[in-house]
Amino acid sequence: MQSRREFHSRLLGSAVTFGLVEFLHTRNLFADAVKPTIDKWFLELTELSKDLKGRKLTDLEFQTRMEDLYKRVDLKALCALVKLDEVEKRPLPDSGAANVGFDLSKVAGLPANLGFGKQIFGCKKGKSIVPHGHANMCTGFIVLKGKWHGKHYDRVETHKDHYVIKPTIDREFEPGELSTISDHKDNIHWFKSLTDAAYIFNVHVIGYDPTIKDAGGRLYLDPDGEKLSGGLVKAPKMSSTDCHKKYG
Ligand SMILES: [Fe+2]
Repeated sequence: MQSRREFHSRLLGSAVTFGLVEFLHTRNLFADAVKPTIDKWFLELTELSKDLKGRKLTDLEFQTRMEDLYKRVDLKALCALVKLDEVEKRPLPDSGAANVGFDLSKVAGLPANLGFGKQIFGCKKGKSIVPHGHANMCTGFIVLKGKWHGKHYDRVETHKDHYVIKPTIDREFEPGELSTISDHKDNIHWFKSLTDAAYIFNVHVIGYDPTIKDAGGRLYLDPDGEKLSGGLVKAPKMSSTDCHKKYG
């Protein structure tokens, strides 16, 4: 039998331990301990891109692996490496998104040919990375700063003047949150900034599948099209100018 005093003392002990665990969790100290260094993280990204282009991974496998890797990013280290503070000094456009490059040549161990393209998008509040899809491209976003409303659609069919699309993701994204696209899943993305000075990190791998003959670049479209059965939407193709006029 333990005395009331012993019981209280043990209870207090667990409360202190629990409090400490909770404190460490809030401070993200556990998570930080298992995150790779930012150099190692980029090295993994080059290896994944190589495996996608070398057809060791399907686009869907790449997408899953990219999301796993993106979830393990040290966001603070990523923002520091891409010099987000300097990017923020540039003016943001009144329509659409700014597109800013960054340098990875100082990252230890990276090959000269990264195998992926990279950029940061920045938007004023209420402005958008306008709705578009891609052909023969896998790409992924990580929110660096600000809050965004992100929407994705599967590109189910491609016709002469329209696509048939299906909504897949429709939610708010906070810093550290991510989304990816491939030709076969969540192919169309559209991100609208809900806060001032909102930034997104982007990596893309182009031309991974020689059997896909569609033209590269952005496929602009209007997701606000005719509703079809089964939750599908007939989304007319658009020019970049028209898409920016309506959604920028
Ligand atoms: Fe895109």
